[in-house]
Order: sequence, then structure tokens, then C-alpha cells
Amino acid sequence: MKNPYLPIPMVVKRTQIETADRMLRTLELGFLREEDEKAFRFVPGQFCELSLFGKGEAPFGIASSPTEKGSLKFTINRAGVVTTALHQITQGEEMGIRGPLGNSYPIELFQGKNVLVIGGGFAFTTLRSLIIYLLQPENRSKLKDITVIYGARNPGLLLYKEELADWQKRSDMKLVVTVDAGDKDWKGKVGLVPNVLEEVGPASENTYAVICGPPIMIKFTFPKLMTLKFPNERIYTSLEKRMKCGIGKCGRCNIGHLYVCKDGPVFSYEQLGKLPKDYY
Ligand SMILES: Cc1cc2nc3c(=O)[nH]c(=O)nc-3n(C[C@H](O)[C@H](O)[C@H](O)COP(=O)(O)OP(=O)(O)OC[C@H]3O[C@@H](n4cnc5c(N)ncnc54)[C@H](O)[C@@H]3O)c2cc1C
Ligand code: FES
Repeated sequence: MKNPYLPIPMVVKRTQIETADRMLRTLELGFLREEDEKAFRFVPGQFCELSLFGKGEAPFGIASSPTEKGSLKFTINRAGVVTTALHQITQGEEMGIRGPLGNSYPIELFQGKNVLVIGGGFAFTTLRSLIIYLLQPENRSKLKDITVIYGARNPGLLLYKEELADWQKRSDMKLVVTVDAGDKDWKGKVGLVPNVLEEVGPASENTYAVICGPPIMIKFTFPKLMTLKFPNERIYTSLEKRMKCGIGKCGRCNIGHLYVCKDGPVFSYEQLGKLPKDYY
């Protein structure tokens, strides 16, 4: 059996600064060994531990879609030791990943349904993976309406701007991008994500909702979904907890009887509702 603590060797193929404050950087990583690339199968919502020799490792959601072959993308917010090192690594350098880890968004349940994706800030990474996956023609044909509401504090903090512009033009999805505060060039919507959700008012019937964002956004979005009559079992979110092993061994990430790394990070509100409120 493969040692789950051994990282897969990867090479940095491309890097891109995403935001005006330069705090968010996307790394595109290529596999160094063909057999690793063949064996690496993932579903949107899963994450990897990214490791840098001498610095450590940390968990990051996979931002690319399984339908984008040949590389994996991660978007990194500069927060501390590992993330600063991941902001300094350059094209051609080698590093490691462990994964794919954790569960995924419940894509099989989405068949024949509408999908509502609600994202805020840099938690949009695995939602990018999900949206690209759902828009792939074969997958898209199995779904009804796709609505995406995505917000950032200001226009400079929006991720994946070129893709947002492409999605705006598509007729097979509805994308609403909003910012808390615009600038002189901003012609789009201004408003907090929960209020914009209320304004858009998507139908809850036959619809699954996936939310990812800062806790404050999630806290105020949830009651709006309740008002729109979304049942708890059709609302999913991804939790972020401090992690170490990522495979359910060290006990660092548990909430009640659940391990976020192994049983999650994706949970339905029905599951979360059974846990003490302090945990999420
Ligand atoms: C499943 C999962 C997916 C994630 N996906 C992404 C992603 O796509 N992009 C991304 O940028 N980040 C993501 N994160 C968060 C990321 O793992 C942390 O920012 C990272 O571990 C920080 O490492 P560091 O060594 O740079 O920070 P440290 O030097 O360890 O800490 C710097 C500061 O950040 C705080 N901190 C560290 N980790 C966390 C955490 N998990 N929650 C809250 N505060 C923390 C510390 O308390 C400290 O104040 C994810 C986390 C999880 C669990
Ligand atoms: S990170 Fe070790 S048990 Fe979850």
C-alpha cells in the first residue's frame, strides 16, 4: 500500500497573482511522474496538502477542475510560514503534494437539478473547480439551471477575472458578481452577498445550494436560504479547520465525532445542524 505521508513530486508550471493587493497567488503544478498523474483522480471540493522542504505543509482546496487535464491549480492566500514560501516559489521549482484528500461536493445528487453556487472572497477556489466541472458539456447536459453569486470586498479582490468575464457571456448559466464597495471603474453590482442572494431570489424547488466563504458571509446567507425555503439537506458548505495529517490520524481537526479532513471538508447543513453550534 502507498505511504499516505509521502508527497507526490510536482513542478511549478506557471504562477499568477490574482488580486490587486498581491495576497492571492495561483500556482499551476505539473506532475513529474506520469504514473502519479494517471493515478491522481479527484472530484471538486477535495483538497491537497502542499509541502515545501524545510518549510512544512498546509491544506489547500484544489482550484482546477478534473476536466482540466495536465496540471493542478491552487490559489494561495499569504497568511504565514508555508503560504509565504508558496508565494515565493518560482516556475520550474519542485515541491510536493499529498492528496487528493477529503470528500467532495455531492455532484451525483445534482443530476437533473438546479445548482446554486454562492461564494465569497478567496474561498471561491474549490467553487471554481466545481463551476468548470459543471459547465463541461457532458456534465452540463445533466443539469437544469446553474446560478452563481460571487462577491468580494472590492473589485481588486475578485479572483479569476478572465473566467468571470467569460462566464458572464454564457447563456447556459447566470453569474452575478458583486462587491461590498466599488471603485471609479466598477460598473457592476454593489452589495453584500446575502442581500444579493435575496434580490436574485433563486427558486429552491429542485435546487442544491453550495456555499463557500468567510464565516460572516455564511452566517448571514444561511437565513436567506431558509427564507427562500431551501431545506437543510440541500445546502452544502466546506469547512476550514486547522489540520495536520489530512487523513484522519492525528485528531487535530475533529468536530464532535467528525474529522473535517476525512469526513469533510464538505458537509450538508443537515449534518452540521446535529453538531454543537460552537463547532462551526
Ligand atoms: C480543507 C482546507 C482547504 C483550504 N484551502 C485553502 C485555499 O484554497 N487557499 C488558501 O489560501 N488557504 C486555504 N486553506 C487555509 C490554509 O490551509 C491556511 O491558510 C494555511 O494552513 C496557513 O499556513 P501558514 O503556514 O502559511 O500559516 P501559519 O504560519 O501556520 O499561520 C499564520 C496565521 O494563520 C492562522 N491560520 C493558519 N491556518 C489556519 C486555518 N486553517 N484557519 C484559520 N487560521 C489559520 C494562524 O493561526 C496564524 O495566525 C484551507 C484550509 C483547509 C483546512
Ligand atoms: S488533520 Fe489529522 S485527523 Fe484531521
